[in-house]
Amino acid sequence: MSSTPMIQLENVHKHFGPKQVLRGIDLSVAKGESMVIIGGSGTGKSVMLKCILGLLEPTTGTIHVDGEDVTHLRGRARKEVLTKFGMLFQGAALFDSLPVWENVAFGLIQGKGMNKKDAREIATEKLRRVGLSPDVGLLSPAELSGGMQKRVGLARAIASEPEIIFFDEPTTGLDPIMADVINDLIVECVKDLGATTLSITHDMASARKIADRIAMLYQGEIIWEGAKAEVDTSGNDYVDQFIHGRAHGPIQMELRKL
Ligand SMILES: Nc1ncnc2c1ncn2[C@@H]1O[C@H](COP(=O)(O)OP(=O)(O)O)[C@@H](O)[C@H]1O
Ligand SMILES: [Mg+2]
Repeated sequence: MSSTPMIQLENVHKHFGPKQVLRGIDLSVAKGESMVIIGGSGTGKSVMLKCILGLLEPTTGTIHVDGEDVTHLRGRARKEVLTKFGMLFQGAALFDSLPVWENVAFGLIQGKGMNKKDAREIATEKLRRVGLSPDVGLLSPAELSGGMQKRVGLARAIASEPEIIFFDEPTTGLDPIMADVINDLIVECVKDLGATTLSITHDMASARKIADRIAMLYQGEIIWEGAKAEVDTSGNDYVDQFIHGRAHGPIQMELRKL
């Protein structure tokens, strides 16, 4: 009960000039838990993730990772924290100039200073874990289908066996069947590692598959949070509208006011 959360945000605000994107986020992710943040586009999901990663600095508020205040870390100390994280970016974000295996091995070589031979062995093993044969490792990412690119992105995210993995829209751009395959792989790989995960998505099928807990972000605030099983009976009109994909409801009314 009293164990330290793996990720904790307290009253995090992020403004860009006059634009208030995050308006007081409180969020706690326990060790080994899979938290999924749902919400429409432009609600601040990626900005929140970037604040935790240290790519953006919160305007006010604090962020703890495994008990350490990381809110304003820079340089070496920031790099140290980043070694705890694996990340699957929206759109996979692979380097086309490097073969697939080197994309997977990138963090091991650049971040951990591992020699190329050992890193290549691990990359090949991780590719196999996500269902890709060693010869795929020799291809350029540009030669792969969208589903294969996601697999490579997942292999890269798990390559260093991180304690925490972030998934930013892991199924965007995939057909529903391929999305389901990727969701299953995510669940399996996370279970293998016992990792804590924080995912953001607007795909409810994905959220239902990978979440232990779900939180909804709306206009820069967490407006609802609960166990996955509670999402259908939240009693929250915004959550209801979102999970059923209804055009009409409180979210639409807000849009009409603009
Ligand atoms: N570096 C930035 N400078 C100014 N505005 C930004 C910046 N990054 C994001 N925003 C704005 O913050 C809002 C939330 O963006 P984002 O977190 O990317 O949304 P999403 O929930 O779709 O991931 C958007 O209105 C976006 O234009
Ligand atoms: Mg985003």
